[in-house]
Amino acid sequence: MNYEGLKIPFHVGIIMDGNGRWAKERGMTRSQGHEAGFENLKKLSEYIYAKGVKVLSVYAFSTENFKRSKQEVDFLMNLFEKKFKEYSELMKKRNVKIVFSGKKADPLPKSVIRIMKEIEEDTKTNTNGILNICINYGGHLEIVEATKKISSLVQEGKLKIEDITEESFSHYLFQDLPPIDFLIRTSGEVRISNFMLYQLSYAEMYFPSIYFPAFDENCFDEAMLVYNKRDRRFGGVKDEDKNH
Ligand code: IPE
Ligand code: IPE
Ligand code: MG
Repeated sequence: MNYEGLKIPFHVGIIMDGNGRWAKERGMTRSQGHEAGFENLKKLSEYIYAKGVKVLSVYAFSTENFKRSKQEVDFLMNLFEKKFKEYSELMKKRNVKIVFSGKKADPLPKSVIRIMKEIEEDTKTNTNGILNICINYGGHLEIVEATKKISSLVQEGKLKIEDITEESFSHYLFQDLPPIDFLIRTSGEVRISNFMLYQLSYAEMYFPSIYFPAFDENCFDEAMLVYNKRDRRFGGVKDEDKNH
């Protein structure tokens, strides 16, 4: 689709949900669903950057997802370990920097943590966009961790309480990113599930019923049309609507 004249959100968030149901409908295993979801992310993200989005945040594994069966968690961790390198090569070609949000600590396997750090180091000078992959991520955890960082700095005398502002707070989050403009959650669930609570404050939200492995370029085009119909007011009133 031609995007001429369309407003492009600067930061898009995607809660990539529905891999399991996508697989079940096709008589496949949940693992196959996750694999298909990952392949879709590779293709879709290339398209999203090509269309001019600068920051893309994707929810790959929440802190709560550790509640799933050992087999499913192990499969996903292996998938990350095996496929992230190849994905980062693809993003390097696009000059996109990859960062990871979430706690790089237990219960994440050490091998996955190592790859996450290597990829961040390897892509840190890329300037054409940012891919923020949320793994072992929770919105509550992110805010609590930021509060701890800030408290220690204050305790050590390195930060003054009056210098903690709405602008400076984001420096202490897992990654210092601009606010999310547009959130897409696939699979028809209408909830946030602990995703980027701080960054979503004024995001427009869209909940298509399609499962993530099937959310293709045409679905993203449709999402952009939806975004362009939204009237973002940020609490204000447009000049033409003012009457007192
Ligand atoms: C999203 O798909 C991927 C992860 C949470 C890792 P699900 O695995 O949640 O798929 P459904 O919701 O069971 O269909
Ligand atoms: C959210 O999906 C997490 C990811 C997509 C990684 P879930 O499938 O875990 O969320 P709930 O349990 O339906 O809220
Ligand atoms: Mg789900």
